Amino acid sequence: MSSEDTFTIAIDGPAGSGKGTIAKELSKILNYHYLDSGAIYRVIALAIHNKKLEFNQEKKIVELLKEIEISFEFDKTFLDGKDVSSEIREESISKLASKIAQNQELRKSLLSFQRSFAKKPGLVAEGRDMTTVVFPGADLKIYLDASVEERSKRRHKQLILKGNNVNIANLVTEIALRDKQDKERVHSPLVIDDEAHIINNDGLSVEETINKILALIN
Ligand code: C5P
Repeated sequence: MSSEDTFTIAIDGPAGSGKGTIAKELSKILNYHYLDSGAIYRVIALAIHNKKLEFNQEKKIVELLKEIEISFEFDKTFLDGKDVSSEIREESISKLASKIAQNQELRKSLLSFQRSFAKKPGLVAEGRDMTTVVFPGADLKIYLDASVEERSKRRHKQLILKGNNVNIANLVTEIALRDKQDKERVHSPLVIDDEAHIINNDGLSVEETINKILALIN
């Protein structure tokens, strides 16, 4: 066990690999706590946007962390008590989140906050550096992957449902760019941990993917 009586499942993977859906469902099934670490970067990006700061004002961004309150209620995200769950999913905020995630000082400042989610009976944490940096001693590590084409199709479907008609070719380019930023950044890049079980879920349903993970737990 990663810490006494707490079972930690760390899931990493690229944007659109289904980590969010899978981690949420898994935490419900197991009755574990849930951490969407990407939402932390997104909510900080929103705060930066609101304060009209630039993504490269590193010191000011770290200072800003002391002024804002980030909280969660399962999959709902709050900034200073306001529900910002939809706002943080907007494309401009996604792009900004990926940029500020390159800030090493910011990442360091967020470590203890993220680790505080590891509580009894257990935690399902998802992001880019859960298996490698935040919970290197996790009890189970998963790297969830899917092809860029499959991930773009899923994103396209989500956007269509929201009433946004976007070009799928543009999505492929955007997702590939975000992968590049996440994989090639100097600090905490998205890499496959040696201990991680790789699951490629191209063509797999949510249920099938979850069953694979449950089999690993058992
Ligand atoms: O997972 P999601 O797409 O919501 O994450 C938003 C951005 O936050 C990602 O593009 C990534 O750059 C960053 N991120 C990160 N480390 C994490 C989770 C997310 O750098 N653990």
